[in-house]
Amino acid sequence: MIEELKKKFKEDIAKVSDKKTLDDLRLRYLGRNGELNKILRGLKEMSEEERVQVGRYVNEFKNEINELMNTAEEKIKQAVKTFSKEWLDITAPGAKFPRGHLHPRTQLMRRAVYIFESLGFSVVEGPEIETDWYNFEALNFPKNHPVREMQDTFYIKNPAGGEDLVARTHTSPVQVRFMEKNNPPLRIIVPGRVYRREATDASHDYQFYQIEGLMVDKSISAANFKAIMEEFFKRLYKQKVAIRLRPSYFPFTEPSFEVDMGCVFCNQKGCKVCGQSGWLEIAGAGMVNQAVFENAGYVRNEWQGFAFGIGFERMVMMKYRINDIRLLNTGDMRFLKQF
Ligand code: FA5
Repeated sequence: MIEELKKKFKEDIAKVSDKKTLDDLRLRYLGRNGELNKILRGLKEMSEEERVQVGRYVNEFKNEINELMNTAEEKIKQAVKTFSKEWLDITAPGAKFPRGHLHPRTQLMRRAVYIFESLGFSVVEGPEIETDWYNFEALNFPKNHPVREMQDTFYIKNPAGGEDLVARTHTSPVQVRFMEKNNPPLRIIVPGRVYRREATDASHDYQFYQIEGLMVDKSISAANFKAIMEEFFKRLYKQKVAIRLRPSYFPFTEPSFEVDMGCVFCNQKGCKVCGQSGWLEIAGAGMVNQAVFENAGYVRNEWQGFAFGIGFERMVMMKYRINDIRLLNTGDMRFLKQF
């Protein structure tokens, strides 16, 4: 009987892993009404000889129990100590890693490109260092003509000798580069950086981005252009945006217009951003001049299409309510972290 009890006790103590179960176990075996006392109570019915033997046996068992209990208790204490040292609150919010993010201009540019792609436009790129031919002459800017002053230019000495190169003043040269190699119908956009030798102010920098657009087919009209612009702005700003075309002049388009968009800050009521006019000048555009088609190798009067050049920083400024274009190129983290 005692052998069985011993076996049972050893099984029980092996399972103990906390103080409460250990105390319960102690009470069950060594308590006043515990298993050992039950045996001892039966001693009086035994013979003298048996009593001595069983008594000794029970005492040994008691010592064994105490020893195992102490070891178990020590183990639990140790575990509690380790646990409280290594304790981890897995529900506590973690320490945040400083994470970089895209420049606000890049963020909006990606969205703009995505919208044009979903309207069927393909993305094309061209060199930032251009020849005079592509940046000006092929676009109908004659040499030594005052119209060149429209865009103040950084000239670059050609290391190979010969004609000077320019830092492209607009993305329009890519129109000609693309049309030389591709036939209509075509629908492209050209996002990219451009440079102008310009005194800077809150809305003019000497380097900025444009998105050029070009759509050519047999019967593309200015109405198509207006519809594309309206759809583009609506998707970019997630609200209906008014578009206004004003007559303008570019040598590579005829007719030409300046594109204004209704100010989304004030809903055209007039505010600081739009100079109280309710409108913001955002792009130059027009119907492609037949001279440009000819310079790209097309037959005159066979095709028609529109082209536009959006000043992208102006759109970024509107989107994020930035009141000075120059902030976008400072690399100032206090500014950039806000987006
Ligand atoms: C052009 O650059 C023409 N290539 C646009 C074009 C393309 C016309 C295709 C017709 C057909 P413009 O110089 O107006 O046009 O510049 C276009 C836009 O760029 C302006 O509306 C303005 O939003 C922006 N922009 C012009 N100069 C600066 C500048 N210094 N800093 C920031 N944005 C500018």
